[in-house]
Amino acid sequence: MLAVCFGAAAYGQVHISTSRTSLVLDASEGQKLMMLYYGDRLSEDDVRNLKAAGAFNAEAYPAYGMSGASETALAVTHSDGNMSTDLIVDNVEISDKDGGKLAKICLKDKVYPFYVNVCYRTYPDSEVIETWSEIENREKKPVVLTEFYSGFLPLRRGDVWISHLYGSWANEAKLAQEPLMPGMKVIKNKDGVRNSHTAHSEVMFSLDGKPMENSGRVIGAALCYSGNYELKVDTDDSEYHRFFAGINPDNSSYRLASKEVFKTPELALTYSDEGMSGVSRNFHRWGRNHRIAHGDVPRKILLNSWEGVYFDINEAGMDQMMGDIASMGGELFVMDDGWFGVKYPRLTDNCALGDWGVDRNKLPGGVSALVKMAEDHGIRFGIWIEPEMTNTVSELYEKHPDWVIKAPKREPVTGRGGTQLVLDLSNPEVQDFIFSVVDDIMTANPEIDYIKWDANMNIANHGSQYLASDNQSHLYIEYHRGFAKVCDRIRAKYPDLVIQACASGGGRANYGVLPWFDEFWVSDNTDALQRVYMQWGTSYFFPAITMGSHISAAPNHQTSRTIPLKYRIDVAMSGRLGMEIQPKNMTQEEITLCRNAIAQYKQIRPVVQFGDIYRLVSPYDNLGVASLMYCTPEKDEAVFYWWKLEHFCNQHLPRVTMAGLDPDRNYKVVELNRIDSEPLPFEGAVFSGRFLMENGLEIPYTHKVDYHRQNDWASRVLYLEAL
Ligand code: DGJ
Repeated sequence: MLAVCFGAAAYGQVHISTSRTSLVLDASEGQKLMMLYYGDRLSEDDVRNLKAAGAFNAEAYPAYGMSGASETALAVTHSDGNMSTDLIVDNVEISDKDGGKLAKICLKDKVYPFYVNVCYRTYPDSEVIETWSEIENREKKPVVLTEFYSGFLPLRRGDVWISHLYGSWANEAKLAQEPLMPGMKVIKNKDGVRNSHTAHSEVMFSLDGKPMENSGRVIGAALCYSGNYELKVDTDDSEYHRFFAGINPDNSSYRLASKEVFKTPELALTYSDEGMSGVSRNFHRWGRNHRIAHGDVPRKILLNSWEGVYFDINEAGMDQMMGDIASMGGELFVMDDGWFGVKYPRLTDNCALGDWGVDRNKLPGGVSALVKMAEDHGIRFGIWIEPEMTNTVSELYEKHPDWVIKAPKREPVTGRGGTQLVLDLSNPEVQDFIFSVVDDIMTANPEIDYIKWDANMNIANHGSQYLASDNQSHLYIEYHRGFAKVCDRIRAKYPDLVIQACASGGGRANYGVLPWFDEFWVSDNTDALQRVYMQWGTSYFFPAITMGSHISAAPNHQTSRTIPLKYRIDVAMSGRLGMEIQPKNMTQEEITLCRNAIAQYKQIRPVVQFGDIYRLVSPYDNLGVASLMYCTPEKDEAVFYWWKLEHFCNQHLPRVTMAGLDPDRNYKVVELNRIDSEPLPFEGAVFSGRFLMENGLEIPYTHKVDYHRQNDWASRVLYLEAL
């Protein structure tokens, strides 16, 4: 809902609200646009009296040049060289948009024909407010933008903590939590292609001291952008922590031509007084309803061939894997890397990207034979591509050396395999080519259900062979505009195709790509223990439906850790379940365990994939255990996960209390994936939601199995059904 309260000035206050949150601006005509409040939903009386109470009173979109030393959201060098910008409110436009509201606060420079629309958008069913800006140059000549953040938010100074995700390849989405201290906290990405390995463009601010999962006031912010970003919080000498988020301006100054409009990516804001889990639920619901491709469609259970066979692709092997996953109840098979390359067969990772013809030595019947095999096994077929890339050893590069990213006069810098290169998506011919990669595969085999879209390199050398010499600083931005154009075309023609975003594992876990992609690969690391941490971090912002989470072999291929299958299953079942293993190397007993798990996952899939998350015990709290649960919004079903993280004799683990249930309803508890020789004491027992949330259940620290099968791992999955 959005209301404009007309104050003394012509426009006065603008109250942008969702059912539980409010954002209030002072948009008085001819004055600077001021941010007065963001947080819990306010009554109109409170809105009216905000200023008297003492409000933020900070410029909502501060521009450089007329306000001293403060950090700014926008910096412009005007066509005559003037580096200052002075924006005042010109008018306020409010319209209906898809059941929600769109508010455009139109600002204009006091002197120059230079305009900025500061935009806010709400949805009818979501607690998220999106903000972005539209920067328009009506001067006669180009201006240069050197800062162009999507949004700014002041946070009242206090014991405010920031929670954010950092990491690396195979160690993505690690949680960092720290109090905001004087000085600048900067979170950034400059990879050019993949933007969530080393840092994430989403953060939470806990306003009441040390972050808590299920209580306390928390603001969440997610920048919806696929490219380089910068998030910064300046704790200066004012009463505010000043938060900015947007496209990373470093090496990206933008010449805005006369009449051109520069639209920044959306910054999604949300607020909850139910702790960090509350903010996660807000993001997840908004994501599923508005920001993730097919967010309302259950994900299939798949087998991916990568860790099972790597580059060793052949028809018989694919047929065997398809048969095996089908026999376990799986619904989809995905052939990963290694299927293409005619002149340069893709036997390893150093050639053939760009040459998307089938290697008939490996696959004589082509892709269509595989699609047919999948059909015969009663499952669907998916295929891997890495369309933004090429290798120096490829027919594509031989034909189009001008299509790769590289600086004039310099040799290209290569990546994976010593030969990989990034194609220049700022070039429309490259965009057409990338579209045709998908289009050709899908035209030849319209039955293909799923594409794994990989991207395994950064922009290692700044330079576009397409962009003009005075627009070289547009490269990072134009790359992602090109990427967006290609994705739009693909989605227009193939709206139902399932597409996974993979970028050396979890390099594209962000809301900038999810409108076109159904899910992402959380990490190339499939080790179940490390996955508890990585999936925990990822869950702060992204729902389980987006998290590719696969059962893989033991010892694990990345960590060499040997974890029992039961634990590997229990971890994978908390995301979008899949398998990434050679089934023919599994024992009959292991196959049976997986078959049962798949059947049980089908039962809980709606709860996991569409439910509300409640994180209970964090692996980062070092209590020896991690636990979370998903509950349906109706609170009639829930799934509880408990993973032991370390093992000592006579250790003490916390008894975990549940959350998210209806205190006044009774729930029957059933264990899934049971391996114990006897049921848990509470198997089939009925408890009130109140009891479970106040006392929890005593979970045994070990499994009751034959002596020779005992090991140091323990995990439980409990299904709760309201009676
Ligand atoms: C990197 C991905 O992250 C892996 O899952 C796999 O698809 C390989 N690329 C294939 O080369």
